[in-house]
Amino acid sequence: MLINRATMFKEAEVTDYRLYLNRREFILGASAASLLPLTAEAGAPAPPPPGQRLQATKNEKLSITDKPNAFKDVTSYNNFYEFGLEKSDPARLAHMLRPRPWTVQVDGLVHKPRRFDIEEILKFPLEERIYALRCVEGWSMVIPWIGFSLSALLKQVEPTGSAKYVQFTTLKDPEQFPAQRPSIFSLGGLDWPYVEGLRLDEAMHPLTLLTVGMYGQVLPNQNGAPVRIVVPWKYGFKSAKSLVRIQLTAEQPQTSWAKAAPHEYGFYSNVNPTVDHPRWSQATERRIGEFLRRKSPMFNGYADQVGQLYAGMDLRKHY
Ligand code: MTE
Repeated sequence: MLINRATMFKEAEVTDYRLYLNRREFILGASAASLLPLTAEAGAPAPPPPGQRLQATKNEKLSITDKPNAFKDVTSYNNFYEFGLEKSDPARLAHMLRPRPWTVQVDGLVHKPRRFDIEEILKFPLEERIYALRCVEGWSMVIPWIGFSLSALLKQVEPTGSAKYVQFTTLKDPEQFPAQRPSIFSLGGLDWPYVEGLRLDEAMHPLTLLTVGMYGQVLPNQNGAPVRIVVPWKYGFKSAKSLVRIQLTAEQPQTSWAKAAPHEYGFYSNVNPTVDHPRWSQATERRIGEFLRRKSPMFNGYADQVGQLYAGMDLRKHY
């Protein structure tokens, strides 16, 4: 059961957040997912549909110089719990998500609330930025993302003076996301929709990328099509996928993982090698495709750019 994973990944890297999900729902989830239609031969990941090409200007200044991972790795080893618990589930079931038509509601404490059609979002000047995605499970991947600073979108809706936080909400639709079906996850674990959040100054930081593509094309469904957030100095779970709503709030918003396990997942979730997760050291990480572990840098290498956002904060308390 549930042993359908790429051999290049170690056991420790796949025995992960799902420890939260109690054994019963885990079994139900696994068996229900196995009843779902597969596109190709049983168990084989669906090949990503040929992606629409995107024009983007390379932003060297905001990119790291590490070599990107292979497209195949990035699209076949995913965390996207709406599709299931296994790393291979998103690629296998991604064809169920329909990324068009799609709109994103941007509202809350703003002067000009607005619903953006995905085609309007794609008209923003797009940049390619190479960022490493660092997962709290202890692995990382380097990805050439395509998008633009979230601040450009937020400026259009004009946040009011009382807006202090931003909440991101993923699509909730059990038709498209099989693991959202009540029979699977209603017994506990993550609540749907998946929600995440940032402080407004984090959301307005130029590094925070509203992401519509990668590797020169639109986002594959398993990577959060058609639009997601990528926050490169935080653990990957902050980077919510398949967004339908961005809401400005006065209070710190609830986030899915902090709600499921508050002692393990905080609101800030900055990459911090000096603060271990209760079950995993955060001092090192394994770059997918490499053998040896490497030291994890503070803020995933962006200490100079983002360190001042946390001046005076106790980052052991605000993990
Ligand atoms: N967003 C949603 N809606 N659902 C998820 O399960 N998983 C998060 C994040 N965003 C997740 C999500 C986690 S744990 C990680 S590590 C990254 O997506 C993985 O992104 P990737 O699959 O593109 O590498």
